[in-house]
This record gives sequence, structure tokens and C-alpha cells, in this order.
Amino acid sequence: CGIVAYVGQQEALPIILKGLRRLEYRGYDSAGVALLNEKGLGVYKKKGKVSELENFLSSNEGLTSKIGIGHTRWATHGEPNDVNAHPHYSSSEKLAIIHNGIIENYEVLKKDLEKRGYQFQSDTDTEVFVKFIEDIYVNNDCSLEEALRLALHKVVGAYAIVLINKEEPDTLIAARKGSPLVIGVGEDEYFLASDATPIIEYTNKVVYLDDYEIAVIRNNRLQVKTIENIETSPYINQLELELEAIEKGGYEHFMLKEIYEQPKSIADCLRGRLDAKSGRLVLGGLRDYMNKFQNAERIIITACGTSWHAGLVAEYLFEEFARVPVEVEYASEFRYRNPVINEKDFLIAISQSGETADTLAAIELAKSKGATIFGVCNVVGSSIPRATHAGSYTHAGPEIGVASTKAFTAQISVLAMMALKLGYQRGTLTESKYVQLLHELASVPSKVEEALTSNEAIKYIAEEYKDVRNALYLGRGYNFPVALEGALKLKEISYIHAEGYPAAEMKHGPIALIDEEMPVIFIATQDSSYEKVVSNIQEVKARKGKVIAVVTKGDTQVKNMADHVIEIPAIHEAFVPLVAVVPLQLLSYHIAVMRGCNVDQPRNLAKSVTVE
Ligand code: G6P
Repeated sequence: CGIVAYVGQQEALPIILKGLRRLEYRGYDSAGVALLNEKGLGVYKKKGKVSELENFLSSNEGLTSKIGIGHTRWATHGEPNDVNAHPHYSSSEKLAIIHNGIIENYEVLKKDLEKRGYQFQSDTDTEVFVKFIEDIYVNNDCSLEEALRLALHKVVGAYAIVLINKEEPDTLIAARKGSPLVIGVGEDEYFLASDATPIIEYTNKVVYLDDYEIAVIRNNRLQVKTIENIETSPYINQLELELEAIEKGGYEHFMLKEIYEQPKSIADCLRGRLDAKSGRLVLGGLRDYMNKFQNAERIIITACGTSWHAGLVAEYLFEEFARVPVEVEYASEFRYRNPVINEKDFLIAISQSGETADTLAAIELAKSKGATIFGVCNVVGSSIPRATHAGSYTHAGPEIGVASTKAFTAQISVLAMMALKLGYQRGTLTESKYVQLLHELASVPSKVEEALTSNEAIKYIAEEYKDVRNALYLGRGYNFPVALEGALKLKEISYIHAEGYPAAEMKHGPIALIDEEMPVIFIATQDSSYEKVVSNIQEVKARKGKVIAVVTKGDTQVKNMADHVIEIPAIHEAFVPLVAVVPLQLLSYHIAVMRGCNVDQPRNLAKSVTVE
């Protein structure tokens, strides 16, 4: 979910609506605002996207206000409808709240409140939360922040909240545990949001609220206290984000813009770290932990979704170049299966958003067992980089499209640098091999640029396959994770069922699906498993399947067998994923657009999953 709030001298509603549009990638089931003016505290909310809320508000008058809160929701408790949308009123309708996260013990709290006569309109944990806060507020004759503080001691779960109180028209109260909250500090005005994107056009000064902190903005002053009531001095960070980085800049969709940004985003990621000419490779984040890294007995990689696929590529990289055993774990499984972890383990957590709840929990678990925790994240200042011992940012710039593209290639770029560094330090890579690989890695941006020139040809292929119901993606070795990622891209934005498989495993099941209709997308570049993949292509052709193959430029063997080929430039096989994924991103993009799907905001998904 995304939250935005404003208090200051300007009109709050336009700022909040614009902020909600910027945060819509975090969830878009429903949206709402609460505004406070001399007429009272009004809550306006609607199922659907922020545009539905805007339409609804355009028929309302008297929405002028200098203070307000807004929310865009990704449903957890209760289906997406007007009633379950945020903000939620307290019983007296004097308080309204927006909330991101989950209150796990809400049922117990709700039963208790019900016993005492409270009634509930929605199915949400959030309505329980605000009524619980008000209950404490009215029964204890204390300030609202004191009531909130007491409530937070009783609440189990994760939250970022903002409260507005009819009786205090110059005050916003916010709190955080486990879900992000950024406070923008302007001239006589304050902004609150789930991330910095709604804030940067007004100010570059931000405070990241920490877990167990409560922020009170009252009478144009910010005060931060812990939930133990100890005042802290908020640290003001200077943001370096540019506004154009979060706008579409002439592209039809963010996803297309982000696919096209990859030559630059990968170059940005390598910049200042990799200098192939002088054989220099420096990852500042590793400096203090190089010893731990080098002496680790095992590397555990944990992540979710696309980031997990980047982790799989890293498994191949680390094992090949540094000869260290690697385990790649879905964070959600890892955290609950009582894994064996010790101080000799080096855990790498990969996350674009830096907020994924399962990944954060996996980090905390490994930390408690003494492992060293390293983050590979994109969003600066997010929760995961703050929870790890050290880390390297991917520097891909804001990724707004829900389907991850440039963050994936930047993650692999960081992980590739880590693998080369480790291999060199451990002596498993010779100097000459190391230097050769540095040159290969440095060539990735220009090779991605070249891969993008296939766009028109890919559109043509998309046209032919846009109506299929199933698709199979196959690859081996370094290209197996690419197959998984290609399939994920297609299913998440076009709703076509797609599966990624190791090409050799096809014969143990998926081969049964192959018929004249079924497109099978092979990543068949000229690497160590090329001949084997060629045999797999023959197996598909023998069963009349349709083959689309991503091949190395100049390939003739696969060209003679496949129905369509997409060429990518030659590169060392370890770095092929960085280039081979690009045509697959474009293929899914075009198919989804042709099917009329909302590629930037696919149904049911959210970009930042702060709930488990
Ligand atoms: C969500 C997004 C995916 C993303 C995954 C992990 O499911 O829709 O695109 O790969 O979360 O997110 P993270 O921010 O941790 O990389």
C-alpha cells in the first residue's frame, strides 16, 4: 500500500492526489483521502485506481484543506471495495487513519471492542486499529500521541500509519514498525509518504522514520520519539533523486522506459566500481566485510520474485568463479523452516524495493544466528539496507513498473562484481581470467543497447503469439534463471500461463503440453550447453511445437530449426543473462500491450510487498 500525507500552507488535496498517483505502483485496489477543514473531517474513498477517486472527488465541493492524508491500497484483509478502502474513521469520526501493513492480533482486539459495544463497517484490521487507539484516547484522558503509544504496545504486526485528529487541525501523527515511512521537510510544510517519490518535487530533505518511532508534526514542528517515549533527534538526509527519474519521459509505459534504460542503469551500477582497463574492481559496501566474505563457508542468497531469479544467476557466478557453495532460498520458505545457519555463513539479501517483508524477516533470522548479512537493494534508505551489516546499492534509479526489469539486470551486475571480486581474492580466478571477465562485464551496457535493436522484430513475433494460452520458457546453465524470469514476466503482465524450466527437465513433464499451438521460448545462446539445448529444440520440433529462440548473433544451426529467432550479441556465458533477458522483457511487454493489459499495474500485484 502507499501512504501520503501533507500539512502546511498549500492546498493538501492536489498534493495528496499527485502523491497517490506516484505511489500507485505499491497497490491500486482502492484509494482514499481524509481532509480536515472548518467544516470538519471528511473521508472520501473509492474502489479502483486513483483516477476513480479523482472522478469521485470532482463532484464534491468544499475540499479545501491545508492538512490531509491519502492512501492507495493493496488488499490484505477484506476485498477491495469502497468500505474497506482507507482512510478509516474512528467511532466518533474525530480520528482518521491510513495504514500500510498488517495488524496480526486484530481479531482479538476486535472481539474485545465488540464486547464493549463497538461496531465495525469494514473487514479491515485498520478499522480495528483506529478504534482501538480512540478507545484508549477517550478512556485515559491523555493526548492522542500518548494513546497511540499505549496502543502500539498492544499491537502485534507491521505498520506505517498516519493519524489525523479533528480536534487538532495543525497536527499529523505517524508511526512505523516494519513498513516504510519517509517524512519530507519543506519550508513551513511537511510531507509523509511510503517512499520519497511523492516528496521529491517539493523538497530534497527527508527523514526516514525508524521502527518503533512516533513522529508528531504539530504547529509546523517535527518531533520524533520512540514508543518508549524517549525523544530522538531526527537526521535529515539530502535526497539525490531527480524528478524526471520518476516520470515516463515520452514512453507509453514505465515498463518500456525502464527496459530501454538498461544500458544506462547497468552502466550506472558499474560506474565507479569497475574499471576494466586498470583491472580495478571496488565495492565500497564490501570493504569492511571482505574478510567475512572471503572466509565464508557458504553463501546463502535470499529474495522473492524477480530478485530470487537474480539470486539464482548469482549461484552460478559464485560457484564458478569463487568455488564457494551457494544456496538460494525463497525468503518466505527460509524464514519458516528452521534453517541451519551459523557465523560462517554470509547471507546476501536481494530486493529492489528494500521493503519485502519476507526478505526482511529472513535477514533478522540469519542475523540472530550470527551470519553476516549483505544487502543488494535498489531503493536508497529503505528498510533492508538499514537492517543489514553492509550492502551495495544497485543504482538502477526508481523502478515504477510493477514488473521488474532494470532492477533485475542491475542486481545481477552487482552480484557479478561480487563474484569476480571474491574469485580474485580467493585465488580461484587467475589474474588474466579476472581481467578478461572485467572487460566482458564492462561491455554489457553496449551489448544490451544492441539487444534492444530487435524491438521491431519482437513486436512482430508478439503479434503472432499474443492470443496463446500457455507458453514454456527453457534454458540451461546460466540461462535457466533467464527462462524462469522470462516466464514470470509474461505471466505477470499478460496473464498468459507461462512456465520456466531447465531445458533438460522438459522431458520429465512439460513435454506433454507441447502441440502445434504451444510456443516454446528457448534461450539458446552459444555457450557450454549450446549443443544440448539444440537437442532439446529438436525434441520440441519433433512434436510440432512452435519455437522462438534467443540466439547468439550469426547463429545458423538454431535458425534452421526455429520458427523465429531473436539475435543478441555474443558475450561470455556468465553474463549472457544480462543481455538475453532483454528480448524476453520486450516480448512480454508487447504481448501484454496487444492484449490490452495494464502493463505498469497488472491486476492483483504490487511492487512493494510489505506484508508476508
Ligand atoms: C513483488 C513484485 C516483484 C518483485 C518481488 C520482490 O512481487 O511484484 O516484481 O520481484 O515483489 O520484490 P523486491 O522489492 O524484494 O525485489
